[in-house]
Amino acid sequence: MMAKLFTQASFVLSICSTIFSVVWSINPFVLEEQLLWKSSSEGEVSTYRIPIIVQVPNGDLLAFSEARKYSSADAGAKFIAMRRSSNGGQSWGPNAFILNDYKVPDGLNLGTVMVDSLTNNTILMHTFCVHSVCNGTAGEKPSGVFIVISSNFGYTWSEPINLGEKNPELLELHIDPGPGYGIQKKYPPNKGRLVTCGHTPVAEERSMSCLYSDDGGITWSLSTPLAGLPYGQAKQTGDFVPT
Ligand SMILES: *[C@@H]1O[C@H](CO)[C@@H](O)[C@H](O)[C@H]1NC(C)=O
Ligand SMILES: *[C@@H]1O[C@H](CO)[C@@H](O)[C@H](O)[C@H]1NC(C)=O
Repeated sequence: MMAKLFTQASFVLSICSTIFSVVWSINPFVLEEQLLWKSSSEGEVSTYRIPIIVQVPNGDLLAFSEARKYSSADAGAKFIAMRRSSNGGQSWGPNAFILNDYKVPDGLNLGTVMVDSLTNNTILMHTFCVHSVCNGTAGEKPSGVFIVISSNFGYTWSEPINLGEKNPELLELHIDPGPGYGIQKKYPPNKGRLVTCGHTPVAEERSMSCLYSDDGGITWSLSTPLAGLPYGQAKQTGDFVPT
């Protein structure tokens, strides 16, 4: 049985590698395209970047992106934009700006989105003011990693919650979650744990760490980092850079 499975697996693998070696050299064929955001036109926004799509438990797709207001730069003031599809992506509702940092020099960045299947909450994690131009403050709010939570499939969201409110070790935390997704453990140990990973912006480190929560996103802890190598030195092409 094992031998047969192995043979089938290697057969499938060899087909896959043949297909991939062919597909690799051509462009994907786009059957249908949906334009969700258009830079320089919608909402007078300079640039839309960092798209993330998740499916929430009522079946809707939620698409998020950074709406960079005045330039395409990573820092700078932004909205977080969201659109919804209730028919599997065939059509999309209007653009909503769910977060706004007004005119700060170093504002919001995505970030990861995850769905807690035990509570049906959708959790959007983002940073605020994590680039050098900000240097710790931007108006009234400290820099760090924040979440907003929706308990109704993205129709309304909580105010931003600094992860350092519940765990002071995470005050002014400078990691960039994602951009992308978080996952939830479906099997023990730590069944139900939410996990989302990201990179440190410091060039010499170039490490990655994960944030995890065992209470549905109320309190978060930081994993030990997976360090870039050579340790503590600027990295070159070919070095181990887990970011
Ligand atoms: C989550 O939402 C789905 C769809 O509305 C529902 O069927 C399910 O019972 C919900 N689960 C929880 C834990 O609320
Ligand atoms: C950033 O803050 C540190 C500590 O307060 C200070 O020493 C440094 O000069 C500041 N840098 C900039 C660019 O403002």
